Amino acid sequence: MATLQVSIVLVMFFLQLFYGARSSTFTIANKCSYTVWPGVLSSAGIPPLSPKGFVLQPGESTSIGVPASWSGRLWGRTLCTKDSSGKISCLTGDCGSSKLECSGAGAIPPATLAEFTLNGAGGLDFYDVSLVDGYNLPMMIVPQGGTGGNCSSAGYAADLNGDCPLELKVVVGSQGVACNSACNAFGDARYCCSGAYSTPNACKPSSYSEYFKVACPTAYSYAYDDGTSTFTCAGADYVITFCPTPSTCIKSSNSNPVAVDVSAGSGPTSSALIAGAFTTLAAVWLS
Ligand SMILES: *[C@@H]1O[C@H](CO)[C@@H](O)[C@H](O)[C@H]1NC(C)=O
Repeated sequence: MATLQVSIVLVMFFLQLFYGARSSTFTIANKCSYTVWPGVLSSAGIPPLSPKGFVLQPGESTSIGVPASWSGRLWGRTLCTKDSSGKISCLTGDCGSSKLECSGAGAIPPATLAEFTLNGAGGLDFYDVSLVDGYNLPMMIVPQGGTGGNCSSAGYAADLNGDCPLELKVVVGSQGVACNSACNAFGDARYCCSGAYSTPNACKPSSYSEYFKVACPTAYSYAYDDGTSTFTCAGADYVITFCPTPSTCIKSSNSNPVAVDVSAGSGPTSSALIAGAFTTLAAVWLS
């Protein structure tokens, strides 16, 4: 009898493994020195998670149950205030709901996004941290207890709001609060990978996307950055941390670009290309 039970458990386990029936837990942690208001948006046709938005004081974390086959995105809203009528508005990542919960709208760019497709092709979870819509705070996804694929940390630990190139910088008062992607800032098809540039072959990294890629090699820096930025994992839970301790990413610094460790980069990008990109950026900034 016991053997039968063990067999049933094993069969269930493998069925779940292969048919992706397992649900997952997301733990969202705020290690920033400031309050973060996470927002959650399910992809079209996918039921919303509960809650769709909440608040995390510095040091707080919260866990949410995520059904199998969920897909969608999470981000952090920052510098939120409540007016006298109770409406919430945020200087970065606002979703336009005027409430703690986002109601079916995404983040207004620029915002760092954590993107997930659970139990996708081959039963694998696909996840990434994207800077394609710009950057507003550091964010990492760390899988827990998963197997298969390339189940490792993805994201961006560096604080770029101070270092962001001037023409991309979002400034409030005298402080940088977010950093636009070149697509957001200039709307150029070459940066947005749109129009004539809407294929991976036609849309190449720009000096701007290289700026993001060098500071942390495991985040999406432009639309076709899939190869080095999408990660896969099976049967994992995920910890999503705002302002993780910058151990896996190198804090970028425009005053000392040689300190950036390019050896951590992967793919066809050569050190020379990155050095070239920095030289170009430096020339643009200094002119
Ligand atoms: C991870 O694996 C997927 C295929 O499962 C691949 O498309 C992607 O390029 C890999 N990511 C990295 C960062 O190597």
